[in-house]
Amino acid sequence: MSLVRYYAAATLDGFIADADDSIDWLTGYEGSFEGADSDEGQAGYEAFYRGIGALVMGSTTYEWVLAHVGGWPYAGKPTWVLSSRRLDRPEGEDLDVRIVEADVPDLIEEMRATAGERDIWVVGGGNVASQFADHGLLDRVEVTLVPVVLGEGKPLFDRRLSGGPMQLLAARTFSSGMVGLSYEIKR
Ligand SMILES: NC(=O)c1ccc[n+]([C@@H]2O[C@H](COP(=O)([O-])OP(=O)(O)OC[C@H]3O[C@@H](n4cnc5c(N)ncnc54)[C@H](OP(=O)(O)O)[C@@H]3O)[C@@H](O)[C@H]2O)c1
Repeated sequence: MSLVRYYAAATLDGFIADADDSIDWLTGYEGSFEGADSDEGQAGYEAFYRGIGALVMGSTTYEWVLAHVGGWPYAGKPTWVLSSRRLDRPEGEDLDVRIVEADVPDLIEEMRATAGERDIWVVGGGNVASQFADHGLLDRVEVTLVPVVLGEGKPLFDRRLSGGPMQLLAARTFSSGMVGLSYEIKR
């Protein structure tokens, strides 16, 4: 069965975006790690993305992507956008963007059926990730830590996790100085 994976980049103090939704601290990050076991920066993402069969994100993340990324970056992957508003969809062939207002337990079976053998990517933000966790639907937390401290911003989660304890599955160091941490939520 599909795993539900929250995969995001976060600052050392646990934020996924500035308070004004900027991620300049991520896109402009230029650190380094010269340890012998460092991986190339994008290797982790590409392998992760190949295994994804469906995505889900909140409307703030969706609107940020539309405003800042040239073209819809998730073509070919069905995407649920959670919103109580009537939002425009990106145009183009092979784009499957479903804008819905719903509780996540009411969507999960459709997402799993669509993802098939692949996994579901909870893109964010923190509130959406917390909704999955609250209902015991989050299997993995996969965070790429960026050694930047913002002091305030949009949190990785916006409340205490109600799931079980986490088990570390992997820790990878990247030549950029970022560290990828994969945790399994035990139930
Ligand atoms: N660093 C990273 O890897 C990373 C990853 C993801 C996102 N980000 C960034 O982090 C920020 C995330 O912002 P955020 O956490 O404030 O917002 P968000 O989760 O992207 O969006 C929250 C909004 O989604 C809608 N929503 C959420 N759950 C819903 C539900 N069950 N039904 C209907 N609507 C629902 C609500 O807005 P409406 O109903 O008003 O539409 C809510 O205010 C963005 O700037 C994003 O670009 C960074």
